[in-house]
Amino acid sequence: MKKILFCGAIIVLIFAISPLLSAQVAIIPKPAKITILEGKFTLHKYTTLFFDQTNPELKRVIDLFRIFLKGPLGAEINYSPKKTESGYIELTLDSTVLNKDGYVLRVTPAKIEIKARSAAGAFYAFQTLRQMLPAEIENQTAVQKSWEIPAVEIEDSPRFEYRGFMLDVARHFQPVEVLKRYVDLLSFYKINNLHLHLTDDQGWRIEIKKYPKLQQISAWRKESMVGHSEDKPRKYDGIRHGGYYSQEQLKDLVSYAQEHFITIIPEIELPGHSTAALAAYPELTCFPRTFEVTPDYGVFEDVYCTRESTFTFLEDVLSEVVEIFPGRMIHIGGDECPKTRWKTCPSCQQRIQQEKLKDENELQSYFIKRIQKFLNGKGRNIIGWDEIMEGGLAPGATLMYWRTWLGDKHIAEAARADFKIIMSPLDPLYFNLYENEERVITPLAYPGLIPLNKVYNYNPVPVQLTGKDAQNIIGVQANLWSEYVTDGQSAEYMTFPRACALAEIGWSSDESKNYDDFIRRLKINTKHLDELHVNYSKYFLK
Ligand code: ACM
Ligand code: ZN
Repeated sequence: MKKILFCGAIIVLIFAISPLLSAQVAIIPKPAKITILEGKFTLHKYTTLFFDQTNPELKRVIDLFRIFLKGPLGAEINYSPKKTESGYIELTLDSTVLNKDGYVLRVTPAKIEIKARSAAGAFYAFQTLRQMLPAEIENQTAVQKSWEIPAVEIEDSPRFEYRGFMLDVARHFQPVEVLKRYVDLLSFYKINNLHLHLTDDQGWRIEIKKYPKLQQISAWRKESMVGHSEDKPRKYDGIRHGGYYSQEQLKDLVSYAQEHFITIIPEIELPGHSTAALAAYPELTCFPRTFEVTPDYGVFEDVYCTRESTFTFLEDVLSEVVEIFPGRMIHIGGDECPKTRWKTCPSCQQRIQQEKLKDENELQSYFIKRIQKFLNGKGRNIIGWDEIMEGGLAPGATLMYWRTWLGDKHIAEAARADFKIIMSPLDPLYFNLYENEERVITPLAYPGLIPLNKVYNYNPVPVQLTGKDAQNIIGVQANLWSEYVTDGQSAEYMTFPRACALAEIGWSSDESKNYDDFIRRLKINTKHLDELHVNYSKYFLK
């Protein structure tokens, strides 16, 4: 009896004197359930991996982790055909884990056990492990004989199936390396969709083989604006800007993203924001004239005409797009389309009569539904900005809500009408707005402030929605429009750490959220970002 008490005292003591290691447990997004156990697991090059080696998906997840550890351990850890006594990591697929992205992770001094329903869950368990390792492990040249992971038991699954981030590569082109780094960083925080805004007035960024002028003309503009678009007079830099991704580059990006359980959502914007395409093919608009890929920002009145030949063009483009992007969802834009030209265009007016439409708003709806039907025929569903619900929408479309000023009532109606909705409201999920009051590092951004706590405290489900209607909110996304984001470094500054808060909104339950605790974890967790040389905003440290 005495002995047992004595042992107990030692265990309590050990537990009490090892706060350092458990303080390392600063996981973002916060897991659903976490229990700190006693002791630690020591990872070294003799640690073995035990799993079903005939499963190629699991093997890919494991190999990613092995490659990650190779530098810090100085050797690749091995697969094991049999379980060793101790010192191993065991990964099993387990259908009792309810969520497809869920996992159970148990770290003890003897072993690490991971149970997941799918390879995605296994990948997320490894991200959690990575976050519990000392941050120096991210520095792939810091070789150490062993690395310690605190003993814990975690049961985890996400709140939403869709956790997304949008990068606008149309206003400023970003090299593929920047996109891959986004895949790395977003997947580290269990975000599973990267939406690329590929076409807009200021540039067309995707190779379409049937229309080579999209590469030769639409991908380039003669200069960019410097200063705010409100400045009078507007100023320009005189430097040619542009670029596009070849189909090969995009396919490579898609498979890189797949390995990180990220779906790339391509956006081909229509019927508005189409100036770059019109610069190459002016016959696609109502009143053809000479257009140039514009350096100006705003909403432009020359848009795609509803003439038959425009649909042929768009369907040809989308036919190539679906060959590159295997994901179920294709984003077709649909926002900010002025109807001015359609009002006086004989072809558009004829279309209104022929299709017995009430007005130009219904013509927009006709446009969207036609593209939707085309993509449905290719086995895909559309996502569109929330304007696509105006004038009616066919079932199966997903709305991306951005117009905060319309209010929750508007979105609640769409949810009750059984549309799936991704919440990406301008306020608080447009990361192109300033993150803090100090504008030294970001002298130029969209006017307005979206501080970290505002992002964190956002609940994507409007209070008036319950039950099945609430489940129509399938996820959440932050958007980084790039009028003022010229390179990867400034993109990172605008993205992090707000994307850490986004990850938590998308993954963790609303009841479990606590901003002070988030900041406590963030201070530890961002040491990983330091090692990765991520240019994140340090404003939260003040
Ligand atoms: C948008 O910000 N126009 C979707
Ligand atoms: Zn027209």
